[in-house]
Amino acid sequence: MEIIVLPDAAEVGRVAAAKVASVARRREDPVLGLATGSSPTAIYAELAAEVAAGRLDLRRARGFALDEYVGIPLEHPESYASVIARDVVGPLGMDPALVRVPDGRAADLEAAAVEYDEAIRAAGGVDVQILGIGANGHIGFNEPTSSLASRTRIKTLAPRTREDNARFFDSVDDVPTHCLTQGLGTIMEAREVVLVAQGEAKAEAVAGAVEGPVSSAVPGSVLQFHPHATVVVDEAAASRLRLVDYYRHTYAHKPAWQRFA
Ligand code: GLP
Repeated sequence: MEIIVLPDAAEVGRVAAAKVASVARRREDPVLGLATGSSPTAIYAELAAEVAAGRLDLRRARGFALDEYVGIPLEHPESYASVIARDVVGPLGMDPALVRVPDGRAADLEAAAVEYDEAIRAAGGVDVQILGIGANGHIGFNEPTSSLASRTRIKTLAPRTREDNARFFDSVDDVPTHCLTQGLGTIMEAREVVLVAQGEAKAEAVAGAVEGPVSSAVPGSVLQFHPHATVVVDEAAASRLRLVDYYRHTYAHKPAWQRFA
């Protein structure tokens, strides 16, 4: 795991976007793993600026969202299908026909979940997966005790997650109770993962994921098994990391040929 500690959230967005762009530029039709939530919004803004400046072309990129609420109308502004279309596909100049979100309205949710994993595989797998992390350590919507080998499937949202996401809805009661999410095993198949976290509220989850024992109690900790995981955090989100001085030292002395930002 590479852990990069930066002064503020804007820098986190800039450096994480540079990493994503460096992978995306390796091919004409990269496969991007797309996270929703607040954490990656600066990444998308940075990537959109690269596209607008003509330094990045994502017209042929494919995209797979991490997750979707179950039962939410497609046109609801907070369905992840709406969020991905509005905040990602449009600004990044992606082709909507090449971007998929799990179908949380499918009559047969289990079949939709299996088909989603197959579609990722048929696309050749995800080149770079963007991730945030929940305050309880979840990635995607893989709540604590998710199997570390799990595939895309239905999950029940933890009460903490519903409270955290209530800000996007009129009230916590309006937050759906279930979701479809890529599994931890699915996420682990991405060739590169870039996880971002900002703010004190994420400090415990980041410490657990990066330095804690690998455990389904902190689903993000599964990334310790990933051969190419980059974790980019601001000072507040890094505040519970024991080895923070080592991470700073490592980044400051990163060889020029390894740098991407
Ligand atoms: C959400 C999403 C995750 C996200 C996490 C953190 O509910 N399903 O993909 O990473 O929880 O959200 P935020 O970035 O808004 O803090």
